Amino acid sequence: MKKILELIAAKMEAAFAECGYDKSYAKVVLSNRPDLCEYQCNGAMAAAKAYKKKPIDIANEALEKLTGDVMFSEINAVMPGFINIRLNPQYLADYMNGMQKEEKLGLEESGHGETIIVDYGGANVAKPLHVGHLRSAVIGESIKRMGAFLGYNMIGDVHLGDWGLQMGLIIEELRDRKPELVYFDESYTGAYPEEPPFTIGELEDIYPTASGKSKEDEAFKERAQTATFRLQKGYAPYAAIWSHIMKVSLADLKKNYDNLDVHFELWKGESDAEKYIPWLIQDLQDKGLAYESQGALVVDVTEPTDSKELPPCIVRKSDGAALYATSDLGTIIEREKDFSPVKYIYITDKRQELHFKQVFRVAKKAGYVKEATPMIHIGFGTMNGKDGKPFKTRDGGVMRLEHLIADIDEAVYARIMENRTVSEEEAKETAKTVGLAALKYGDLSNQAAKDYVFDIDRFISFEGNTGPYILYTIVRIKSILAKYEQLDAKYTGTPVILPAVSDAEKALMLELSKYNDVMESSFAETAPHKICQYIYDLSNAFNSFYHDTRIIAEEDQARQASWISLITLVKDVLASCIQVLGFEAPERM
Ligand code: ARG
Repeated sequence: MKKILELIAAKMEAAFAECGYDKSYAKVVLSNRPDLCEYQCNGAMAAAKAYKKKPIDIANEALEKLTGDVMFSEINAVMPGFINIRLNPQYLADYMNGMQKEEKLGLEESGHGETIIVDYGGANVAKPLHVGHLRSAVIGESIKRMGAFLGYNMIGDVHLGDWGLQMGLIIEELRDRKPELVYFDESYTGAYPEEPPFTIGELEDIYPTASGKSKEDEAFKERAQTATFRLQKGYAPYAAIWSHIMKVSLADLKKNYDNLDVHFELWKGESDAEKYIPWLIQDLQDKGLAYESQGALVVDVTEPTDSKELPPCIVRKSDGAALYATSDLGTIIEREKDFSPVKYIYITDKRQELHFKQVFRVAKKAGYVKEATPMIHIGFGTMNGKDGKPFKTRDGGVMRLEHLIADIDEAVYARIMENRTVSEEEAKETAKTVGLAALKYGDLSNQAAKDYVFDIDRFISFEGNTGPYILYTIVRIKSILAKYEQLDAKYTGTPVILPAVSDAEKALMLELSKYNDVMESSFAETAPHKICQYIYDLSNAFNSFYHDTRIIAEEDQARQASWISLITLVKDVLASCIQVLGFEAPERM
């Protein structure tokens, strides 16, 4: 379905053109004065300059062509030259009926199966998921679902940190703990055991210990560097340990991401880039882009239009080691080969902004990615505690994601049990569903780049701009629909949505009509917070409508059936929005 703003604009454009004005002046926007009108066109002001006329005269001329049009219930020109518009309730009701009939509620797919890579998650193997990775997972999953809903072939890649110094650190710590393992016997030539030499519990202890040691013990750190280097060169015993680390860690990571209802199409990592790196380095040199600087190999990335110079991108350190940027470039080469995507979206902490700027510039300069292919980095802000400092556990440690989720679920559970309308069992399940919504909405409702305060009490509240409030609205509609089903006397004709009879009902329809526009523009701007804002507004509009409309007691059955259709549409729109945000509603709460 065409967007409602486009439909109105088309009329306005025709009117402007008929009066001899360029149709580009006929833009229509949502009114910022809902007390005066629903939509407005401010183009007469700009046109007045170009045509050297009074704005009000132009507005009046256009108005003359539109007066009496069935689309509008009210259209007038006011000083200095605004055109104010209200939609005809019948026209709006027809639009509602159209939405209800259409697949995807009137949303037109713009993706046509084109491939977009979304690089998110970014967990580091052998380290437990912590809240720092939460935002990437939550935002990335939502953006991926938004694109998929619009018909793009979205490929989410978790892009694990599985290749750096942490691997060497684990290997050396393992040697110190279990020197008898065959991996450390240089003369061993047999096959390596299938069974990993550690559990996930041990592995989670090995890494932090090793990391701590490396900061105090220079010799240990050197050993770890050597081990990393040998691993990267393909030394078989270390490759075997690496596989064990991957297996044990991945099972745990998958479980954690599953709990977040976050899923990846690809489980690739930095290690997968390794095989492209020798070619990459050579190619950058052959193209005259990479040159030696203080022993390192670098590529200049500053462009003449930059207001300040960017540091060059280092692709090889003086000791010959590849870096984060090198592995990202190698990954791009693989992605081009496998998918040739039309767009790249990366979601990480905003502190990585420079890194991605450099990587994108090199990828384009070297021609690995077409100039026209958008490469987007979404840098998110920090999740802070109520004290305004990065979120920590009560005793100041790094909060593990699973503990955070457990805390939320527990708080929601207590909240649900206050009302105690459901069994303990059901309350536990519901708490998980509502908890996830609280967590994700709490994050997604903020503009990604901004820091935000993680406030459990606020996030789990059933009132205000929260996930549970949205779910509560859906659950409320479901319960009205169930009550309606129980009625003996119901409308027997085909239900249609009738023109609104109250301001609140019309306001609700106007909110609903924005749906396709919101979905499309939120994805174009990679801005899930706009969907959150929309469903909050829509929920508010529904709740005001419901507040002054007695649906179940209504005696006019056709009217009643119309309202039932209307609130079903509200429920469907909300459900589709939360699906792309990455959570769902329970049956009751
Ligand atoms: N593992 C990285 C980190 O924890 C994030 C990876 C992001 N993706 C990428 N292609 N660099 O910071």
